[in-house]
Amino acid sequence: MFTSKITGLGHYVPENVVTNDDLSKLMDTNDAWIQERTGIKERRHIKKGDGNSTSVMGVKAAKMALKEANLKATDIDMIVFATLSPDMYFPGGGVEVQELMDMKTIPALDVRNQCSGFVYAMSVADQFVKTGMYENILVIGSENHSGGLDFTTRGRSVSVIFGDGAGAAVVSRSEDDQGGILSTHLHSEGKHKDELALQGPSTEHWVPEIIAENPQEDIPYYPYMNGQFVFKHAIVRFAEVIHEGLEANGLTTSDIDMLIPHQANLRISQFIQQKLKLSDDQVFNNIQKYGNTTAASIPIALSEAHKAGKIKKDDIVVLAAFGSGFTWGSVIIRW
Ligand code: ACO
Repeated sequence: MFTSKITGLGHYVPENVVTNDDLSKLMDTNDAWIQERTGIKERRHIKKGDGNSTSVMGVKAAKMALKEANLKATDIDMIVFATLSPDMYFPGGGVEVQELMDMKTIPALDVRNQCSGFVYAMSVADQFVKTGMYENILVIGSENHSGGLDFTTRGRSVSVIFGDGAGAAVVSRSEDDQGGILSTHLHSEGKHKDELALQGPSTEHWVPEIIAENPQEDIPYYPYMNGQFVFKHAIVRFAEVIHEGLEANGLTTSDIDMLIPHQANLRISQFIQQKLKLSDDQVFNNIQKYGNTTAASIPIALSEAHKAGKIKKDDIVVLAAFGSGFTWGSVIIRW
């Protein structure tokens, strides 16, 4: 078995800043409600005509990650692309990246695991590198939420939370048998699939059917979230899967140098921090600036934390996510 290591990180967010006050002009909401419930102050939204899309933002983050890894696009052996908001219903974003970056005819795999998408994607990359099948894998998480949210008062409990952006990591074969990605741990529980979901368009809710039958009131093509239910499950599963990962490597919470939780909601991150008795220095959050960017949130946060010098060689870094499905997972890394 080989070892696998993150050799480059990158992130990109659109320039257009949307504050809570900006949203209060579109719907009945306010800065105090949003900050108190979620910690979010502002988020980025793609602006019509700015050239961004889920795959384009993914490419921007990927180019930064490749530069840091000192690799060219043609050095990459596989793309793993995580998103819930692809540019097209099909094909997925992976092949768009392959084309936009002029890559070889390498495999492009799309991961549909929403907020856990990046953790699942990292796990896939880790397996392919550890078995020796591939040497360098580009893992991307990217989301264009603003294109599909309900910005009327009807959608306020969901639409204030989410933002657009992308993050990327290069996972490479490593000679260092002590460090790198130590393990990944993945889970799902499909009985809760309707608690955080976007039902259409899909084979059960095709667009003509929606338009013909329910033009005004039907909302399956806007995301639905049972917020309190999600909150309760998130705090349990986050803690569980972090402990699972630590125990598998003979580590405890005091060994964590940096926890990068999926940026679901600042209150969820704070709850987990308290539950695991971690100090402020052991947890990185940036949801205040970007909102919840789903599959992009962990790579954006990881890239920012790394660039800010908050992650050093030999640090134990834990990535953990929970989201729609429900699905959840963790990645334990010795940097
Ligand atoms: N602005 C103002 N008022 C609002 C808004 C808004 N944006 N959204 C909802 N409200 C109102 C509701 O209509 C309700 O009014 P009512 O009491 O008159 O009926 C009131 O605020 C309370 O609504 P709740 O939905 O009960 O609010 P809650 O305190 O549960 O907060 C929230 C909602 C923030 C979504 C919370 O449930 C939560 O944090 N859930 C966790 C889920 C989460 O963070 N998901 C992130 C995405 S999923 C993921 O990444 C895993």
